[in-house]
Amino acid sequence: MMLLRAQPLTVVAATFRHTRTMQKIHISRRLYSERPPENKRGELDITTYTPERIRNFSIIAHIDHGKSTLADRLLELTGVITKTGKNKQVLDKLKVERDRGITVKAQSASMFYEHNGDKYLINLIDTPGHVDFSYEVSRSLAACQGTILLVDAAQGVQAQTVANFYLAFGEGLGIIPMLNKVDLPTAEPERAVLQIESAFEIDAADILHISAKTGLGIEQVLPAVIEKTPVPQGSIGNPFKALLFDTWYDTYVGVVCLMAIKDGSIQRGDKIISSHSGTKYEVMEVGIMHPEQTPTTMLQVGQVGYIVCNMKSIAEAHVGDTFYREKHPVEALPGFVPAKSMVFAGIFPIDTGEFDSLKESIQKLTLNDSSVSVHKETSAALGQGWRLGFLGTLHMDVFRQRLEEEYDASVLITAPTVPYQIKYRDGVTKFIRTPADFPDAATIQDFVESTLEPYVAATLIFPEQYLGHMLELCTTHRGDIQNHTFIDETRVILKCRIPMAEIVTDFFDKLKSKSQGFASFDYEESGYDKSDLVKMEVMLNGESVDALAAVMHKTSVVTVGRDIAKRLKEVIRRQLFDIIIQTAANGKVVARETVKQLRKNVTAKCYGGDITRKMKLLNKQKEGKKRMKKIGKVELPQEAFLSIMTKSQD
Ligand code: GTP
Repeated sequence: MMLLRAQPLTVVAATFRHTRTMQKIHISRRLYSERPPENKRGELDITTYTPERIRNFSIIAHIDHGKSTLADRLLELTGVITKTGKNKQVLDKLKVERDRGITVKAQSASMFYEHNGDKYLINLIDTPGHVDFSYEVSRSLAACQGTILLVDAAQGVQAQTVANFYLAFGEGLGIIPMLNKVDLPTAEPERAVLQIESAFEIDAADILHISAKTGLGIEQVLPAVIEKTPVPQGSIGNPFKALLFDTWYDTYVGVVCLMAIKDGSIQRGDKIISSHSGTKYEVMEVGIMHPEQTPTTMLQVGQVGYIVCNMKSIAEAHVGDTFYREKHPVEALPGFVPAKSMVFAGIFPIDTGEFDSLKESIQKLTLNDSSVSVHKETSAALGQGWRLGFLGTLHMDVFRQRLEEEYDASVLITAPTVPYQIKYRDGVTKFIRTPADFPDAATIQDFVESTLEPYVAATLIFPEQYLGHMLELCTTHRGDIQNHTFIDETRVILKCRIPMAEIVTDFFDKLKSKSQGFASFDYEESGYDKSDLVKMEVMLNGESVDALAAVMHKTSVVTVGRDIAKRLKEVIRRQLFDIIIQTAANGKVVARETVKQLRKNVTAKCYGGDITRKMKLLNKQKEGKKRMKKIGKVELPQEAFLSIMTKSQD
């Protein structure tokens, strides 16, 4: 599946106007049907749900426009979860999602629903809104035929609303437009409707007005989904064919595969084969997410559910794979275009003895997040570890948090870097994922034809009064402004091409502060351009630390070099000797700072005092040491590595 975002709005919207359904929505009085009967093993019998009685849809929106809250209301309405008044984003199951209040992982939930006397099996996929997780959205759409495009009535159309609309439209999904948060005093539904009409050429009459928080208008949602979502294609008579679109690791049963059944049916005991590897598996359990794993007697064409088979190793689960029944091969589905890593960072165990367990944890976690790429890396300073590729810095940070919380790993992560390209005069092109591998000035001069950096095509949406600030922001970050147009009389869409390296640092924070939070931002990769790049080395007491090296545009060398030295001085603790920090580029030192030696014994003030106080102080120090790494004689905290990426505020 491709990430399709390239067509001009008007073309897409005109076609959309042509294809969408214009039926009037009828709402039945009964809101949900009973769960189907169970057999003796406690498996639900869902065989009566043939494609005409199945709807698979997702909810897409800009970040925080209310997707997970809408999912809560629909799950309550259909009795999947009990209405308690306290359900909050129940499909955000991960701790990291609850901590941060964002969805990072698409989650499926099946519901039984009655509409106009017919019983339906409806599968809902709640998707993340942040651009760093757009791969989750694109994969989820492959398991759907329709999607709710949710727009916050107070905020209107935002950058990811547009991006996700393109994604869904490119996949040919039925689009069900909805305006959420109409209960807010700041809601401006008429304005938001105008924006939706103008950006996507959707008729105002087709837009439902709801409040996922108060429940207003919620009873209209599933009837609209049923009427505007196409029936899944495929036939029960064809041989079994299924698309694997998500996987996770369960401590009890091992690898669990989430599949969209495209043809035929499957049940316990069947033998299935992976098109990717040719490996044969025996099916141990099939079922639906309701919202937890709920076994069923079988899964059949049109349904979306999980399959547990004897998949022994995590490496065997390949998202995008097609499965078929033994002796009945089928043509494999196109699968997914692999996610393109936008940033890379090194991950190293704090304690080298934990290398093997960290390796296993990374394998398990990447099973649940196939957009992360993994390569082994050895650093002179940090030892053996991995270089992981992520879709953005939030993605990187979420991955680190999940490793620590879900797998109890203690890791050190280096500053993220974008992948650079080096074109050598002998015709060889090399990709550089690790700054330490970037050639030095002499090599560049003697052997390199050009150095290139990756660009993104960025879309910014904001109120007109911030136009000046936004133009300035883009140009000071080396961006090329391409054009700006209005989506209504006061809101601007600005398109610009900008180096990805600029986005990795502080672009997003500045965007928010310079627009007082009103600007939204989305981007997609846009190839490589020649650029004057330089490697910045960091020396501690004269020794270059490879894990602290960074690559940057030559115009940033002096400011960034000084910044890095200053910031390292702030985060490196005083030790029993002076620590000289130097940054250097092109063989010249750019900045120098000194961390003065520590004179006092930290516990001296506790002598003669209360022993518990002394222990407390020592324990506190131990805590602090957990995320320390010794480079030569110098102890570096985690913040030292991340301080490389932050730019000073200007
Ligand atoms: P991401 O998945 O992180 O993109 O967020 P989301 O789109 O799933 O949004 P979520 O459901 O987490 O809601 C974001 C915030 O908006 C939460 O604080 C919700 O309580 C609030 N919210 C959602 N729907 C409504 C609504 O209809 N009215 C009001 N007033 N608040 C709402």
